[in-house]
Amino acid sequence: MEEEIQKINFPKNFYWGAAASAHQVEGDNHNDWTEWERQSLKLKIKSAELKIWPDYILKNYPNPLQEENYISGRACDHYNRFREDFDIAKSIGHTAHRFSIEWSRIEPEEGKFSEKEIEHYREVIKALRKREMEPFVTLWHYTLPLWLRNKGGAENKIFPNYFSSFVEKIHYEFKDDVRFWITFNEPSLWAAQAYLTGIWPPQKKNILSTVRVFFNLIRSHKEAYDKIKSVQPEAIVGISENFEWQEPSFIRPLVHYFRNLFFLDRIRRHLDFIGINYYKAVNFFKLAIFLSPNDQHCNSLVYRGNALSDVGWLVYPDGLYKLLIKVWRRYKLPIFISENGIADTRDIYRPLFIRSHIDGVKEALKDGADIRGYFYFSLLDNFEWEKGFWPRFGLVEIDYKTMQRRLRQSAFEYKRIIEDSKDN
Ligand code: BGC
Repeated sequence: MEEEIQKINFPKNFYWGAAASAHQVEGDNHNDWTEWERQSLKLKIKSAELKIWPDYILKNYPNPLQEENYISGRACDHYNRFREDFDIAKSIGHTAHRFSIEWSRIEPEEGKFSEKEIEHYREVIKALRKREMEPFVTLWHYTLPLWLRNKGGAENKIFPNYFSSFVEKIHYEFKDDVRFWITFNEPSLWAAQAYLTGIWPPQKKNILSTVRVFFNLIRSHKEAYDKIKSVQPEAIVGISENFEWQEPSFIRPLVHYFRNLFFLDRIRRHLDFIGINYYKAVNFFKLAIFLSPNDQHCNSLVYRGNALSDVGWLVYPDGLYKLLIKVWRRYKLPIFISENGIADTRDIYRPLFIRSHIDGVKEALKDGADIRGYFYFSLLDNFEWEKGFWPRFGLVEIDYKTMQRRLRQSAFEYKRIIEDSKDN
């Protein structure tokens, strides 16, 4: 019986990998974020000084009290070291890699595409193919070229046209080598953070702007989908949305709908798959006690001491299982877990975090959900947006002084899971 429970098949071509985004790893970008990082520096340091930080975070470089923490700068120098990084991913069994193409590199001025940068990404894709890793290309992951920012960014009503011409160019260049396309990363979350709560640039707090951006992104996705499919019908085109598990349950239907489903409902006929980015449960009363103690899948981190990640997120693996089932029942579309990860400097929770979330994936497969791949976020420690470098999400630790890479124990745990999945 025990044996049987463990022997749940992963589909034969299930993709295993890690995800990353250009601005977080490449280094030397020039976009709306790079400017904002400098403008918001002083305020960020001030607010970091008001908090109490554990020693294991302060002893790292850079830490939240240092200016360097908030400037993406060289990031992980992945732009120059991508081959080395892909060798590492290959060595731990990855069969796919999700990355994003930086719009500000490709189109630094309106309508002018950089052949040099196109060649760069061609090399990136080639490097993945050479290592037999399937490229999953994200066309937009939070950043905008400066010229477009100056025109009002995603709020401008012709944003969909700008996005469309960028997509057309990228697709034309790479269609022979890329099958999996993700138009937007977390459009709903981004619209809310940048236009409603004002946490991310352009830091607006305006409902009308948020709605405008929302509908512009919906239109942009649909047009990009049609464009890609008309030229490459065999392409597999989707989107990545951020999902949270909400507690307590009486709050869930409303929040879940607006936060997790509203956008997807509007584009469901323009999707070949849904990418789920899942990190945490959110308890509106901040008490883990509301999470049902009878959950049979993956449990332990929450109940044995309410594990929080270094950034204070409530670890709740069972939320992934439950969301997979909900999303599968609602849309009946193939699903990829396009991000799942934890900030854990000491790598003490990560091995179990990965294992227990993947257990949830297995359970969901067993219950009939069509899940095609899992991407841990992230391959490398990287630049964690407004928080900077201090949160460590990587399977691979980066020494930001020397740029040396070091595999964490959790990377080997993930490797074992991948290997075991092949014996099933
Ligand atoms: C984003 C990543 C980010 C991660 C951890 C996701 O919402 O797509 O870019 O690094 O969360 O915060």
